[in-house]
Amino acid sequence: MPSTVELMSVPDKIVRNVNDLRAAVTAWRRDGKTIGLVPTMGAIHVGHLSLVTEAKSHCDKVIASIFVNPTQFGENEDFDAYPVDEARDVEELSEAGTDLVFCPGREDIYPEGFSTVISISGVTAGLCGPFRPGHFDGVATVVAKLLLQCLPDVAVFGEKDYQQLLVIRKLVKDLNISVDIVGAPIIREDDGLAMSSRNRYLSKEERALAPELNRVLRSVANAVIEKPDDCERICSLARSELLEIGFASVDYVAVCDMNSLELLKIYSGSARVFGAARMGTARLIDNIPVT
Ligand code: PAF
Repeated sequence: MPSTVELMSVPDKIVRNVNDLRAAVTAWRRDGKTIGLVPTMGAIHVGHLSLVTEAKSHCDKVIASIFVNPTQFGENEDFDAYPVDEARDVEELSEAGTDLVFCPGREDIYPEGFSTVISISGVTAGLCGPFRPGHFDGVATVVAKLLLQCLPDVAVFGEKDYQQLLVIRKLVKDLNISVDIVGAPIIREDDGLAMSSRNRYLSKEERALAPELNRVLRSVANAVIEKPDDCERICSLARSELLEIGFASVDYVAVCDMNSLELLKIYSGSARVFGAARMGTARLIDNIPVT
């Protein structure tokens, strides 16, 4: 006989507080089910749906969370503009096979008097870290809360936010949180642009130029294979090229060790090329392995 959760309609798949979430999780655990979590901030796109598919390949039941986390946005960032359409998001997540959507209120994540911040050093020192002060503290804190609220066996994060993925791996390792963190490959548009909720900010003209970030990163990857001791110059040329193409500013183009994110002057294997640049109001990030 199908369980109560399986008989639920789409709106009933939403839980809005930790008590209801825990009741569903407890029922699944009683039935011997394993549970996967896909944390999101909504504005669901095909990239998120691929995370649900990945979670389903590891677990019997999948929870997706939707929470636009204020603490990971800087003062001049897009928190107020962040696209919100819960009904559409829930429908898309459900169609992709999500069993339960956790939409906590702000009071479930940051109740009155909340005063804990999780701050991770090392992997946060470079790349987006200096350009988004406090961002990874916000991410680590909210992800710790979501993991402890949902108690999943597996949690899936996209490699598009590769630095975030490493931050979360460090978080669960350092705090002994009992969950497997799975990284899922970047999903791209046909022209190479990495899928992102923030691509919606691009005008038609900006959208046409945006895939150049990926093209330039690929050319950096090829160049460092040919000239492994020339990483700095290759990245500097790539930054100039992005500005010439029409990016408003370039935060970084860098070749880093894929595990420590240490900046590499000389490429010697197991590296990725990372880039962040602004196109109109959108800050685009991307990364690719050097292979
Ligand atoms: O990647 C995101 O969408 C967010 O950073 C996350 C992991 C859901 C935390 O708010």
